[in-house]
Amino acid sequence: MDCRLDGQIALVTGASSGIGFACAEELAAAGAAVVINYHSHQQPAEELASKIARRGGRAIAVGADVSQEADVAALFASTIEAYGALDILVANSGMQKDAALTEMTLDQWNAVLQVNLTGQFLCAQAAVRQFEAQGRRPQSKALGKIICMSSVHQVIPWAGHVNYAASKGGIMMMMQTIAQEVAEKGIRVNAIAPGAIRTNINKEETEGAAAKEVLKLIPYGRIGAAEDVGRAAVWLASDQSDYVVGTTLFVDGGMTLYPSFRGNG
Ligand code: BGC
Repeated sequence: MDCRLDGQIALVTGASSGIGFACAEELAAAGAAVVINYHSHQQPAEELASKIARRGGRAIAVGADVSQEADVAALFASTIEAYGALDILVANSGMQKDAALTEMTLDQWNAVLQVNLTGQFLCAQAAVRQFEAQGRRPQSKALGKIICMSSVHQVIPWAGHVNYAASKGGIMMMMQTIAQEVAEKGIRVNAIAPGAIRTNINKEETEGAAAKEVLKLIPYGRIGAAEDVGRAAVWLASDQSDYVVGTTLFVDGGMTLYPSFRGNG
């Protein structure tokens, strides 16, 4: 199966660490030129750009807060300035600010919704405008591709994380609605819903003794690696998935399969 992305331009938001970092790395390995967006951690983003260049690829690091419209406009302008077009958006930036419902501040609620949901809305909007403005490109069957980074928590309620779960549930309906709206233009919009992927966001749950508890929730028996998600992103961005529109691809080792029902049927 040929998932090559040679000559295509990909923008990955929140790519200075974790899942975004792996998506950028895998997209570059598949031949795409990559814009590595970061918010506060410039150094790892620049290091990834250099690493990709050493391997013969093309990448730049660009800072932007995706929850701010002006920043998003500047991010897309930098992308076009550097590479002249955009074929793939991976709207990945996300964060957790966990608290019990009665403890959660409005700032914690707003911060997570603004980055996780509004950030994806602003980036998807800018990407669709760009795809339409540039028109068809020979490198890809679709006019453009958008991958929204969701979570298993778009369907699994998560006590103590109401802001995060609400943002991911919102991403599911936002993704489907945008997909329905822009498919006739030739734009494919899909989502990836990762499960427990070992990154900085969930260090406490996925390392040491706590990892054992998380593993009970994963039928496949291992905590995910960011590359598991990166490879899924490459497939969803490639022509191999050309008929996949408005779908969420769960990359979760079976976490959404009601694992507590095992052995109790
Ligand atoms: C969260 C992680 C968590 C995983 C499974 C992800 O969306 O960001 O912290 O480990 O879902 O619960």
